Formats: sequence, C-alpha cells, structure tokens
Amino acid sequence: MDGKEAAGRKAIDEIHEGMTVGLGTGSTVYYFLEALAEKVSAGLSITGVTTSQRTAELAGKWHIPLQSLNNVERIDLTIDGADEVDPSLNGIKGGGGALLYEKLVAKASEKRIWIVDSKKVVKKLGAFPLPIEVVPFGWKQVEAFMTEKGYRPRLRQTPGGQPFVTDAHHYILDLHLDFIGNPKALADELDHVTGIVEHGLFVSMTDKVLIGYSDGHVGTLA
Ligand code: A5P
Repeated sequence: MDGKEAAGRKAIDEIHEGMTVGLGTGSTVYYFLEALAEKVSAGLSITGVTTSQRTAELAGKWHIPLQSLNNVERIDLTIDGADEVDPSLNGIKGGGGALLYEKLVAKASEKRIWIVDSKKVVKKLGAFPLPIEVVPFGWKQVEAFMTEKGYRPRLRQTPGGQPFVTDAHHYILDLHLDFIGNPKALADELDHVTGIVEHGLFVSMTDKVLIGYSDGHVGTLA
C-alpha cells in the first residue's frame, strides 16, 4: 500500500449515514471513492457532491448517489487531495486542474479533510507550481502581468500541445514560484487580478489533513 492509498482509505472512517459529502478530485481521492463505493454497496446512504467531471464519472460508475452543488443546502464534509500542505494547514491544489470547483465545494462545506501522501507535507509552499485558472479571452494579458511580477507563468498544455481546458472551460497558468513567503498575501493579490477566475492557494481552508505513509500508517495534522 502506498501513502495515497493509506490516506484515501482511512478517510472512510469520517463518513456516516445520511451525510452529504463533497467528493474531491485526484489519484488519492480515487482510493477514498473506492472505499466509499464499497460502503454504499453494503447499504450506507450518503449523497455525494462532485468537484470534477472525472470524479463524477468514477462516482457514477460505482453507483454513488450524486447531487449537484446547486441542489444541496449544505455539505457536511468534503474529502479532497492536495499537492502541497504546510504545517499551518495552507495548501496548493489544482495539479489535476479542478481547483475552481474544489474551492466552491470546500467553501460550501462545514468540515474539510485533505488526504495526502507524506511527501506532500512541506515546511513552505511553492516548490509545486501554483495553478491559476484564467479566462481564455485575454489569458496572454494575465500571463504578461504574472511575468512582470516575476511569477514565471507557464500555460498548461495537453500531451498533444493544446491548451489544457478545465471543466469550466478556462485555461491554467502554472506559476513557478519555488517558494511562497506569505500564502495569505499572495492569495489576496491573486484574488484581485482581472482575468484570474481562481487560484490554487487554499489558505486556512481545511480542518484536518490525513497523511499516508508508505508503510501504510496514517498520521494527522490539525
Ligand atoms: C485536483 O485539481 C487537485 O487539486 C488534486 O486534489 C490534487 O492535485 C491532488 O491530486 P493527487 O491526489 O492525484 O496527487
């Protein structure tokens, strides 16, 4: 068992009958969904709210009942992955391109738990490129502004060399920052740039992190 599987499977302990559960995106969430599907097929009743087309497809295949974000009053708990997490529970998300829907679902959730492999826990964020989701109309203008700021943006592309397009039909610029001194200040700055729909900095947006290790044990950061 690797760290992702250990953390993903451990998260099932947090799910209880009748809950509305935000379902994150990614290869760690895959293991959580697999465990959830087993419980649902054994009779557990929950409603899932997905954060991406990819997760919706998996949940559909595994017969996990779904509702859209617009049709639920609240989400009890969201389980999601992350690309980097610091000791203050700030993180970078969006490596899979689902940051906008993930942030919307996170904001609608009473409680949020991230599931990560231990290699993702870092002292300072920024080695992982920070994704920003931008409107295709004028993306070059945002790119030029980010370059001017020294943020080293790179347009995310598909293996075929086309721009990667998000579920909400936007592009992604990955900022190669190496080091983020003040996540809150950077998040505030990016929140106010015209053309950026959302960014992958999640500042104080999780309550707990389940950290999976390669020997199968799971630690907690809270
Ligand atoms: C999806 O856009 C991301 O925010 C994922 O939650 C994050 O990239 C973690 O993905 P893995 O679990 O696949 O590493």
